[in-house]
Amino acid sequence: MTKSSKTHLRNPRSRRLLRPVHIVGTGSYVPDRILTNADLEKMVDTTDEWIVTRSGIKERRIAPDWMCTSDMAVEASRRAMEQAGVGEEEIDLIICATITPDMPFPATACLIQQKLGAKRAAGFDMEAACSGFLYGLEIGQQFVTSGTYNTVLVVGAEKLSTIIDWEDRSTCVLFGDGAGAAILRSRGEDQGHGILTTCMGADGAQADILLMPAGGARYPASKESVSAGMHHLKMAGKEVFKNAVIAMQTAATEALQRCNLTMADIKCVIPHQANIRILEAIAERLNAPMEKLYVNLQRYGNISAASVAIALDEAAREGRFQRGDLILLIVFGSGLTWASCVIQW
Ligand code: ACO
Repeated sequence: MTKSSKTHLRNPRSRRLLRPVHIVGTGSYVPDRILTNADLEKMVDTTDEWIVTRSGIKERRIAPDWMCTSDMAVEASRRAMEQAGVGEEEIDLIICATITPDMPFPATACLIQQKLGAKRAAGFDMEAACSGFLYGLEIGQQFVTSGTYNTVLVVGAEKLSTIIDWEDRSTCVLFGDGAGAAILRSRGEDQGHGILTTCMGADGAQADILLMPAGGARYPASKESVSAGMHHLKMAGKEVFKNAVIAMQTAATEALQRCNLTMADIKCVIPHQANIRILEAIAERLNAPMEKLYVNLQRYGNISAASVAIALDEAAREGRFQRGDLILLIVFGSGLTWASCVIQW
């Protein structure tokens, strides 16, 4: 942090009048099975070279049939709880961000609650696609800063392998399965600011460039919807790419401005892990050296709401930043949605 920004560090929404909110534990989980680009070469007309050049992805994890989104979420949550020293009965609220819930209802958060044995916790799902984890952080921190709840579990979890069209080479090479979690609490005023700001945005006018058309009220499941492949993820790749770069740049700039910070103050940027070319474009626009960005998409591909949560956990455990450092999270997803978050760790 520069000297000037330290003196001007402030909370844009007067949160300092309320309780500061800290991430006191993180955890993540990915299934054991690795699907490599070489494996995909046997499934669709593609090459390792095409996938790596266009996306940076080398492999992704695929959950077994029996494993649901809630199972991966529970594994990630347990690891976050263990790190935070939080017991099941201490959790007040579970927010699950996902586009691949175990089923349309009940909420996957309720299934996680039962599997964790977090009997006191309320729970709900929220859907903002790849932006879901940061939307969840913003919602969760509102409950903690207001004093409504002491301990909130936010988990991003996806079994995207169930909504991918494994015959569509333009999408099936990009996605994977996994989960990431964070525990929110207030450590108290004297332990740093914690979450400084969270910005969220959406543009429903572009809903049709990344979607799963059927399975909801508009096109309920039918023989026709299944045979037309409408229960698969559909994406206009180039449009998504263009919008991702603009939205993530805008979200990052807004978050930094709100906190009177510059990129020089940020120790580590943790972006949504969709495509290395998107990250390179953002790094250039934000004047950040690529080394400042945490990147794990080569190992996991895009895991939607889980991506940034897993990256946060891995970066923290690898020691990419220390207590007191400033980090910037930026995400983008279907909706369109985007979000950013500045945290003093
Ligand atoms: N292997 C080989 N060739 C392929 C493959 C593949 N897997 N997929 C597409 N191609 C072909 C296309 O058919 C096309 O061929 P043509 O020129 O003969 O028509 C050619 O490669 C170029 O295709 P483009 O779509 O133009 O390739 P592009 O450079 O745009 O890269 C990509 C495609 C990787 C999908 C890129 O557009 C992208 O990353 N977009 C953003 C995706 C993203 O971030 N999605 C996540 C959003 S977050 C969420 O909410 C889920």
